[in-house]
Amino acid sequence: MEQSQKKVVFSAIQPSGTITLGNYLGAIKNWQVMQEEFDCVYALADLHTITVRQEPAQMRKNIIDAYASILACGIDPEKSVFFIQSHVPAHAQLAWVLSCYTQFGELSRMTQFKDKSVKHAENINAGLFTYPSLMAADILLYQADLVPVGQDQQQHLELTRNIATRFNGLYSDTFTVPEGYYPKAGARVMSLQNPENKMSKSDTNINGCVHLLDSTDVIIKKFKRAVTDSEAIVRRAEGKDGINNLMNIYSAVTGLSDEQIENEFAGKGYGDFKLAVGEAVAENLRPIREKYEALIKDKAYLEESYKAAAVAASLRCRKTLQKVMKKVGFVF
Ligand code: TRP
Repeated sequence: MEQSQKKVVFSAIQPSGTITLGNYLGAIKNWQVMQEEFDCVYALADLHTITVRQEPAQMRKNIIDAYASILACGIDPEKSVFFIQSHVPAHAQLAWVLSCYTQFGELSRMTQFKDKSVKHAENINAGLFTYPSLMAADILLYQADLVPVGQDQQQHLELTRNIATRFNGLYSDTFTVPEGYYPKAGARVMSLQNPENKMSKSDTNINGCVHLLDSTDVIIKKFKRAVTDSEAIVRRAEGKDGINNLMNIYSAVTGLSDEQIENEFAGKGYGDFKLAVGEAVAENLRPIREKYEALIKDKAYLEESYKAAAVAASLRCRKTLQKVMKKVGFVF
């Protein structure tokens, strides 16, 4: 059983709108790399998305689009389990149990909850508050060793570790206590228009955000308009947020080091650099977009694929859920 010797990786992403270049370079590209080395379980965290109000038809479209996009990014159903969270009821079941082992005080300290409560002041629902217990359930169900997450999820992962350790302490070893996994190459992509903020699909300036499925022309146009500075030297330095961001992106898509990039553009202006980054990104995303366009037309294949993945995920997490229920005292 080769699989059982590999470390188990779990990660998930919310299907809440289009996937951005930031999601791709910061997370999904790394998922694809990890599936070569680890036993990977990946989910579309659709249950998490309803903590913020969704329009039903749009939500369905977002889920299918995200599913097809992530397959197009090279997540291979032969190598990884990639499923839709709501298709595996064990997530909601374990989340309920774990919410009874998560303290009000702990959840109150989550900075994402505080931020989202400000942003969605009209709808501070209980799910928004207990969201980290669901995330803990996602991870702990698969006995994950490693969880690749961005910095914004680090606090939730720390809470997951606390919940796991607490449960293990009360009932004997039940859960693997997962470690965060922060790959060196996982670029944190910033807005092209406000490079001190993370690239986000909710950026008010559409030129700030590159989408995974943007056309070559649109991608190049957005990079040409990227905000830089007045020094006109391509080099990494404090205060040069725009250029630093473009260097990160260029490095992520070409594999070049800072030094190689600085040499390539020595004596050249920002115009040349921005065009080169735009072209490199567009070339990188083109095969993904083409694959997506083929996949999204093939609804039968998509359905077959996510149904098979749900069965595989359910089988994998059944034992853990049963163990938990027994230990807590439910009758079988
Ligand atoms: N909360 C994560 C986000 O918004 C998505 C997520 C849900 C997740 N469950 C997870 C990430 C488990 C890692 C592990 O980005």
